[in-house]
Amino acid sequence: MAQQEYKVLSNKMFIYKGMVLTFHELTDTNKEYIENLEHFEIRESDVFLVTFPKSGTIWTQNIITLMYEDDFPEEVNLNRIQRMPWLEIIPKNKDYNSRPSPRLFCSHLQEHLVPKGLRNKKGKIIYLFRNPKDIIVSYNYFCKYMLTFDAYKDMDETLDKFLSGFLFGGSWFDHIKGWYNNRDKFNILFLSYEEMIKDLRSVLVKISEFLVKSLSDAAIDKIMQKVTFNNMKSDPKANYKFLPDFIMKKEGTFFRKGTIGDWKNFFTVSQNERFDKVYQDKMKDFPLTFTWDIN
Ligand code: A3P
Repeated sequence: MAQQEYKVLSNKMFIYKGMVLTFHELTDTNKEYIENLEHFEIRESDVFLVTFPKSGTIWTQNIITLMYEDDFPEEVNLNRIQRMPWLEIIPKNKDYNSRPSPRLFCSHLQEHLVPKGLRNKKGKIIYLFRNPKDIIVSYNYFCKYMLTFDAYKDMDETLDKFLSGFLFGGSWFDHIKGWYNNRDKFNILFLSYEEMIKDLRSVLVKISEFLVKSLSDAAIDKIMQKVTFNNMKSDPKANYKFLPDFIMKKEGTFFRKGTIGDWKNFFTVSQNERFDKVYQDKMKDFPLTFTWDIN
């Protein structure tokens, strides 16, 4: 999509250089903050989890914070967003520069907006991707409860916004292409939600090796246990029920279904055709083969 420099989309969302972001009263997230992020100083020990929204961020955020639990014994009672905040969402009066190392961050930012320092392979990035059809289904549910998002009335509207790049996160196509095509500049590990569902243990080993965290089999087992869908759903530090109800409606949850291929239960034939047409066009030169293209 043509990259608009800056435009306010609604009283909740704005677009900055192709990236759709949210502002709300609890944060200082705005154009200036995002613009200045390119100068944010990166430390060698920084860890970033980068995702397009609804790709399994909260799940992986939980996994990574658990891997670093021993580094911060005093933070053990903090919730996940306090231990691994979003770089681009800055709570009022917070300064991420003063966080102790190793700093853990989540981010939904597109590649061209992240701090310049990351491009010198400083810090570590885990990029998690997911079948975009499942993202659309997940987003269609979630936007009705997350009050910082514009809510769409039905799947048709969510699909339209996704295909035109106006969901929170901007264009999924630009997101994954930007990160993957520039992968040589970063110290980056690519993972998929689908492989996490199919073989979580292997993914945990991959993550721990990438982060150079030597974890025993027993430690991996313990994390596996804590991050199951049901255990996370009932874990008050991980389930986001701590968000105030003016941010997320109490009936909403980050844990809707946690499966792959659920789009087949929601997309009509014509919605699927509409998606495939755009997908095939936009992804035709993309070098990575996804599991959902094979299955
Ligand atoms: P569904 O809506 O398809 O269920 P994000 O954290 O990026 O917002 O992604 C949310 C998606 O991740 C939701 O997908 C949610 O159910 C899924 N998810 C969260 N925790 C999970 C877990 N422990 N196991 C499997 N899926 C999980």
